[in-house]
Amino acid sequence: MSHNVFGHLFRVTTFGESHGPAIGCVVDGCPPGLTLSIEDIQVFLDRRRPGQSRFTTQRQEADAVKILSGVLRDEARGVDVTTGTPIALLIENTDQRSNDYEAIKSVYRPGHADFTYDAKYGLRDHRGGGRSSARETAARVAAGAVARKIVADVVIRGALVQMGPHRIDRSHWDWEETQRNPFFCPDAKAAGFFETYLDKVRKEGSSVGAVIEIVAERVPAGWGAPLYGKLDAEIAAALMSINAVKGVEIGDGFAAAELSGEANADDMRRGNEAGPLFLSNHAGGILGGISTGQPIIARFAVKPTSSILQPRQTVDRNGTETEIATKGRHDPCVGIRAVPVGEAMLACVLADHFLRHRGQVGGQVGGQVGERPRWPFAT
Ligand SMILES: Cc1cc2nc3c(=O)[nH]c(=O)nc-3n(C[C@H](O)[C@H](O)[C@H](O)COP(=O)(O)O)c2cc1C
Repeated sequence: MSHNVFGHLFRVTTFGESHGPAIGCVVDGCPPGLTLSIEDIQVFLDRRRPGQSRFTTQRQEADAVKILSGVLRDEARGVDVTTGTPIALLIENTDQRSNDYEAIKSVYRPGHADFTYDAKYGLRDHRGGGRSSARETAARVAAGAVARKIVADVVIRGALVQMGPHRIDRSHWDWEETQRNPFFCPDAKAAGFFETYLDKVRKEGSSVGAVIEIVAERVPAGWGAPLYGKLDAEIAAALMSINAVKGVEIGDGFAAAELSGEANADDMRRGNEAGPLFLSNHAGGILGGISTGQPIIARFAVKPTSSILQPRQTVDRNGTETEIATKGRHDPCVGIRAVPVGEAMLACVLADHFLRHRGQVGGQVGGQVGERPRWPFAT
């Protein structure tokens, strides 16, 4: 019951601590015959990697992934392919500075997991937060790259849409822009503002939260497993499992409660062979726990980094009241690097659901639909 595993048919186990020799994951259930190279994985790890701008932690990790198992050279094609056996992925830790954490060895950071790990296990790895560190999320990103191979036709992209109280202007949305600024922000103007804003926050020794939106396009209608494996429920659980996430919304989310029935209904027209045409997408691409064929839209709220220079009141292991100011290298807005992590978690859930859907009703790996049912259903 130690819960380092998620997924059903596409099953991911992550391991490792922030300041241990390495972190990694074992991906079990990946179908055989899919091309998989280090580059396929590295490209996503490079997006999450720390130390790439002054707006993320200055810990310098190459996050170079090694594939230890689960692939075989296809000599005829000159590529590595998955074998259907567990894929073990390893990422070495190379830039640990455990001494930075000596001062907080027995003092709890308010807002972090220090107290709760102690309460549960009676001990904790204080070095970089051990397993509670978001260093672990690199392993999720690596697993997500494998998942993307299984649902290759699905386009999964994420964007930072709010920093602190400042929302982007959605009319400026440009996916290309998310590749150009250090915030994964789709609004160039907002990204410019975030630079000045986050510099100020950082210099004050403070931190700030963010909202991330993840969109999956070209998911066919029919994926999902009601009632206790609803696609939206499993997406929410996967996103909620990311460090510092305090809220998840699908589609209109909490705002749906303010709408009337007629405003919230996604009206339907006949459409084409892919399915009906929906005139809106308040549902975020999921109804009854099953994909509608519309883009799947999920948002999650990330709290501000708890390790900050601003002194906070706290206690130590003995209950002595004290103050804490966390030095060391920390992200002033953890929401930035959470973007590729959110994309990876959605990819893992979709790969898992694709395989489960295929197990029940058929379909091809990387394909879009099973043999049946076909829209429109009555001929
Ligand atoms: C990408 C990413 C980077 C993070 N970096 C830091 C950090 O530098 N310092 C910190 O205190 N927390 C950081 N966090 C958040 C902590 O890992 C998290 O708050 C902690 O594990 C407690 O868990 P909870 O916030 O989910 O309750 C980061 C989170 C993410 C997603």
